[in-house]
Amino acid sequence: MKKFLCIALAVVLTLGMVAAFAACSKDKGGETTAAATTETKETLVMATNAEFPPYEFHEGDKIVGIDAEIAQAIADKLGMELKIEDVQFDSIIPGVQAKKYDMGMAGMTVTDERKESVNFSDSYAKGVQVVIIKEDSDIKSIKDLEGKKIGVQTSTTGDIYATDDFGEENITKFDNGAMATQALVAGKVDCVIIDNEPAKNYVKANAGLKILETSYVEEDYAICFNKENTELMNKVNGALKELIADGTVKSIVDKYIKAD
Ligand code: ARG
Repeated sequence: MKKFLCIALAVVLTLGMVAAFAACSKDKGGETTAAATTETKETLVMATNAEFPPYEFHEGDKIVGIDAEIAQAIADKLGMELKIEDVQFDSIIPGVQAKKYDMGMAGMTVTDERKESVNFSDSYAKGVQVVIIKEDSDIKSIKDLEGKKIGVQTSTTGDIYATDDFGEENITKFDNGAMATQALVAGKVDCVIIDNEPAKNYVKANAGLKILETSYVEEDYAICFNKENTELMNKVNGALKELIADGTVKSIVDKYIKAD
């Protein structure tokens, strides 16, 4: 009887050990897979329109600028791999809505209308809509824009406000600010309404242009996200807060915008 008990106990112990061993190696297997996934970083796909210096523009085959560098700093903080897609400005929001891109970052102004389609992060910069004119222009104030030919970049806030205030028939839309500025130089439009920092770049690059003293509209720039992806937006906001607090955002801005 005793002997029988002993054998039974041994069998139970052995079985138990086999089971424990199996469980152990299974665990180990699970761990290996987890380690492998953390090595291949999750990608963060950012849509932009890289025709908007100093926020985003091409330098050789790279996209650089304030937005590109802030986005890289955010991705680094989140342990993600940043991938920038250069698209038309007016396809950024639809692409974010369709989940083609994880976020849109393009010196993009927060507006109530856009908020109906996407969510916006905390703001990381301010913009001002200004008017570029020829040095010898008779346009002296915003009200002089009445009846003038106004050039804008399609679907930007400059386009939206100018269309509202001065009528569709007076607005000429271009794919980007550089093209609108070329049209001004060529005398095809009387002015260009665009954000202040790109405006300064265009005026510097083309002789005979200046920025009208009075600014048009002041705005906040933020990153847009699909309405369902609040998890990513919250993570980005967390990273952004730290990067603002530790001075990283300011040093990136200062690198591209020199006080003048
Ligand atoms: N701030 C303006 C807007 O949100 C213009 C932005 C244009 N950005 C660009 N990357 N082209 O409508």
